[in-house]
Amino acid sequence: QLPIVLTGVSSGIGARTARILTSRGVPLIGIDRNKPTEFSGTFVQADLSSQAGIDAAAAAVADAAPNGIAGLANIAGVPGTAPWRTVLAINVFGVRGLVRALAPLLGEGTAVVNLASSVAVNWREVKAKCAAFALADDQASALDSVAGDDEVTGESYLFSKQCVRVLTEHLAAELLPQRIRVNSVSPGPVATPILEDFKKDHGRDKVEGAGALLGRFGDPDDIAPVIDFLLRPESGWVNGSDIRVDGGLGAYRGSGLA
Ligand code: NAI
Repeated sequence: QLPIVLTGVSSGIGARTARILTSRGVPLIGIDRNKPTEFSGTFVQADLSSQAGIDAAAAAVADAAPNGIAGLANIAGVPGTAPWRTVLAINVFGVRGLVRALAPLLGEGTAVVNLASSVAVNWREVKAKCAAFALADDQASALDSVAGDDEVTGESYLFSKQCVRVLTEHLAAELLPQRIRVNSVSPGPVATPILEDFKKDHGRDKVEGAGALLGRFGDPDDIAPVIDFLLRPESGWVNGSDIRVDGGLGAYRGSGLA
């Protein structure tokens, strides 16, 4: 059985996804900048916010999986409390870079899952901007090109996750001839270490208010099974899609009832 590659395995949603896949006997290669306290499989320590880190991680995966991999879930991400260049480097170019670097190891019938966010709801309005940014050939000039744009630098997390939605559709089209599926999952607020940073970035009242409206925050167990589903052959006709897993928050906010 070929392994599945997961990023962000040392915390939250990535750690829970690893546990589910391990429980169904799937061999894993986990990538994270931090060492996990609990992980069964091959662990690769790498910082995915730079091309050098992505290249090192991809080389380690190729060594560990000479016969190829069965899937890839890009779960690692940082909140908007990090410097905006870091947010865009890991959340957008980390995803794009790893998919492209590992595509040669992904065979027919395999799947990629990217973590977006339910905050990325008005994505159509920024689709062109995201496409120009996320699909630019040169990462350094793409970052420089948005340096004066407050909408991007002031809301870097939101922009990064909107880019993930656009990138997911684009990569699904790019990899369609190779029969590699690419989908995204958009969680609402989930109780993991990143949530405290969301409170600092988006405002404590807003985040607590969302939790109160929904009755609770999400749990990694609400999200990980959906990632697992999208990695499995049973979801073979789901491609280029986003699955919102947010307890209804996005529907409520978009309904006019909010
Ligand atoms: P988390 O903070 O618990 O875990 C993130 C993991 O990514 C950590 O293990 C961290 O070390 C790793 N990571 C961060 N930067 C990295 C880098 N440069 N290189 C390698 N690894 C790196 O967060 P959580 O909640 O598990 O989030 C997982 C994904 O889900 C993220 O992409 C996040 O943006 C997204 N998400 C989370 C939501 C939430 O409320 N928890 C809501 C919407 C989306």
